[in-house]
Amino acid sequence: MAKTENTLPDNLPRHVAIIMDGNGRWALSRGMPRLAGHRAGTENLRSIIRACVEFGISYLTIYAFSTENWGRPPEEVNGLMRILEDVIDHELDELDAEGVQIRHIGRLDNIEPRLQDKVRYAIERTRANDRLVLLVAFNYGGRDEIVQAIKRMIEDGVQPQDVTPELVSRYLYTAGVPDPDLIIRTSGELRISNFLIWQAAYAEWYVTPTYWPDFDKEEFRQALLVYARRDRRFGTVSPQVNQPS
Ligand code: IPE
Ligand code: IPE
Ligand code: MG
Repeated sequence: MAKTENTLPDNLPRHVAIIMDGNGRWALSRGMPRLAGHRAGTENLRSIIRACVEFGISYLTIYAFSTENWGRPPEEVNGLMRILEDVIDHELDELDAEGVQIRHIGRLDNIEPRLQDKVRYAIERTRANDRLVLLVAFNYGGRDEIVQAIKRMIEDGVQPQDVTPELVSRYLYTAGVPDPDLIIRTSGELRISNFLIWQAAYAEWYVTPTYWPDFDKEEFRQALLVYARRDRRFGTVSPQVNQPS
């Protein structure tokens, strides 16, 4: 990736969401097992979290394990569970000290009880931190999130006339979190893969062929620069094209 100037634009995204893809291909290209790619990807995550703190990003959502990823071979699924556990065991002190508030989006009920407890502990321990909110999408699926929201709305007796986009947003795992401004997908795939399908309505996209373990701070900065040059219209017309003829 070409080096860019070291300055950052003023209009940074408030919320960046990342589909951290390509760990398997990164490992394959080096003749290593897929889990080695996941370990390298986890290492890389540390530096991107740190960059978010440094750059003043308020919210970072990372896609770590999808509801569809259960379909992978059991060794890989178990390895990914173990990696999350290791991250909580070994990184929590530092994340807490850096002011990172950890939140989980997705389902906890069908993961191993010991891991559930660790996730709950990490959330509880970092609850008061406010430098960066890190939303960990683990066992997350956008369709599952919407289904769970509908179930809870029905349980709460929500009446049809009260259903609005704002109400639906409040029933999602991301309640209270602004929608992502920028979604980054590494490894070149041009698809959403069930990630934040409701919240992504007006997100800007940055897709790069770089595999996740190689997506470094410089390329992250580059993505922020690209974002800052975008004209976000939200269905309206921008001031430049709204000139009288
Ligand atoms: C992303 O990397 C990490 C997870 C989905 C857990 P992949 O494992 O999907 O890597 P590729 O796409 O096979 O290269
Ligand atoms: C999306 O990547 C899920 C995560 C990054 C956790 P996948 O590799 O699972 O997505 P597909 O299968 O290429 O759509
Ligand atoms: Mg993939």
